[in-house]
Formats: sequence, structure tokens, C-alpha cells
Amino acid sequence: MSIHFNHTIVACHDAAASAQFWADMLGLEVGPPYGPFLPVTVDNGVTFDFAVAPGTVQDIPTAHYAFLVSEEDFDKGFARIQERGLRYWADPHAQREGEINHNDGGRGVYFFDPNGHALELLTVPYGGWPES
Ligand SMILES: [Fe+2]
Repeated sequence: MSIHFNHTIVACHDAAASAQFWADMLGLEVGPPYGPFLPVTVDNGVTFDFAVAPGTVQDIPTAHYAFLVSEEDFDKGFARIQERGLRYWADPHAQREGEINHNDGGRGVYFFDPNGHALELLTVPYGGWPES
């Protein structure tokens, strides 16, 4: 088997602002435009292609995107959340505002991008690291 998730389109209201937001929060760069898309590529090669969706931001269905990050990158991302004064939660149901979680022995946090997409940073995958 050789199947790898490669790319997806992220619907947004303002592609430049949205791609830059994700890049800033993840410590990445926005790539050169590709047709109507503005790409942000993460370290495992998956590209998120930001594209303007019709209508208003309220018309964009909320999607959830979770990023498995190193402890160092979590520190940086969480610092950016705090510097920007973004609301954040420890849980996906937004019950524990202003907290992070320690699920599976790691750290995790939820916050929203400018389009209302629910982003998550976590340092340990759900269920913990697989045993080798
Ligand atoms: Fe999640």
C-alpha cells in the first residue's frame, strides 16, 4: 500500500489572510499561488490550498483541522494564540475556555481561524503514540 493524503482545499473568505493566519500559527510559509489557490504545506507534504468560497464567511461550513506538532512548535503556536488574544479551549465542544488539555500525556488546544474553521494543535496523537 502506498496511499498518502496529499492536499485539500480550504474554503475561506479571504485566501491571503487565511493562508497567512495558518502559516503564522503553524510557523510555516505561504507558498506561491497555484491557479486560484494559495498553498500552505506542512512537514509531511500535505498541502492546504486556500480558495475563496462564494458568499459570506457565514456560508463557509466549519471544518476541523488538527495538527500534530512538536512540543517546541506547540509552545510557539500557543504563544501566538495568546499574543493575538485569540479565544482558545481545551476541548472540541468549547466548554473549557482559556485552558489547554493534557490528553494522552501531551498537550492540546483548540481555536478558530478567521473563517470559523476549528483548528487544533496536539503533541500526542489521540490514543497515544503507537507502540513500536
Ligand atoms: Fe480533533
